[in-house]
Amino acid sequence: MAAGQFGGDDGGMTDAFPFAREDFEAIAAMVHSHAGIVLTEGKAMLVYARLGKLVRARGLDNFRAYVALLRNDRDERARAIEALTTNHTKFFRENHHFEHFAAQVRPALLTKAARREKVRLWSAGSSSGEEVHSLMLTLLGADPQEARAIRNGDVVALASDLNAQVLETGRRGLYPTATAQEIPMALRSAWTDMQSDGVQMRDGVRELIRFRQLNLLHEWPIQGRFDVVFCRNTMIYFDEPTKARLISRIAEKLAPGGYLYIGHSERLVGPAANDFQSVGQTIYRKVAA
Ligand SMILES: C[S@@+](CC[C@H](N)C(=O)[O-])C[C@H]1O[C@@H](n2cnc3c(N)ncnc32)[C@H](O)[C@@H]1O
Repeated sequence: MAAGQFGGDDGGMTDAFPFAREDFEAIAAMVHSHAGIVLTEGKAMLVYARLGKLVRARGLDNFRAYVALLRNDRDERARAIEALTTNHTKFFRENHHFEHFAAQVRPALLTKAARREKVRLWSAGSSSGEEVHSLMLTLLGADPQEARAIRNGDVVALASDLNAQVLETGRRGLYPTATAQEIPMALRSAWTDMQSDGVQMRDGVRELIRFRQLNLLHEWPIQGRFDVVFCRNTMIYFDEPTKARLISRIAEKLAPGGYLYIGHSERLVGPAANDFQSVGQTIYRKVAA
């Protein structure tokens, strides 16, 4: 990378705010060890732009002092990592996953719910909840009788992310009207209310979802196994060993015959990939033991 993208005397935009290569490297190492996210040198300007605001907010005028602060201040570290996560998401993103889920997975889950057996779904790396809401709306469907079976059953979706801010948005369940246009009309009218400030998920959906802060690299205080895991566009930022470990841990948490949906540019790596059978584009089924 051009030296001019880092600190100092070169007339670059970093003149205003010294940002040396070693500052970037220290931040990248911290983000990698805490969140598994790999920041290549090409991301230096992004780091500068996103963390510059935090540097200023702490009354500092250079990154070296901010890096020193990050080493000692846990809350600031969490803020910095949150600022560096990419939270882009949308309703019914990669819609073929929801079509597959509706056609191939939902019928069996409806039966389980009607029998009051546990149905557990997980959106791992949920961001602001568009993914888990899309999944839950698909499971509930637009037929009131089927939806009643789900609502009266033992059905819970976990939505987890390390970023507390995006989780708060998901918990609230209020989304800009424009983004909610991606929700199929029948589901939108069945499960959302149009308000002056956006589209509000009804309680009937929200009650079935638990938003929890969880770092995928840390311990998972999760009991039982999932029928379905969506882990999409999250491990894309991890290095290969971190991906492999994550896939192996997800495999352990999936019930035999359970389904894993991953992002369109992701693939299963590591030994646990052998625990899965491909059943569609970026859709995998855990092979029964
Ligand atoms: C691009 S979003 C993907 C959202 C959704 N799954 C989708 O595909 O639309 C990636 C999310 O992963 C979260 N994330 C990144 N590293 C994480 C980690 N180590 N543990 C938990 N969540 C993480 C980010 O905060 C971000 O919200």
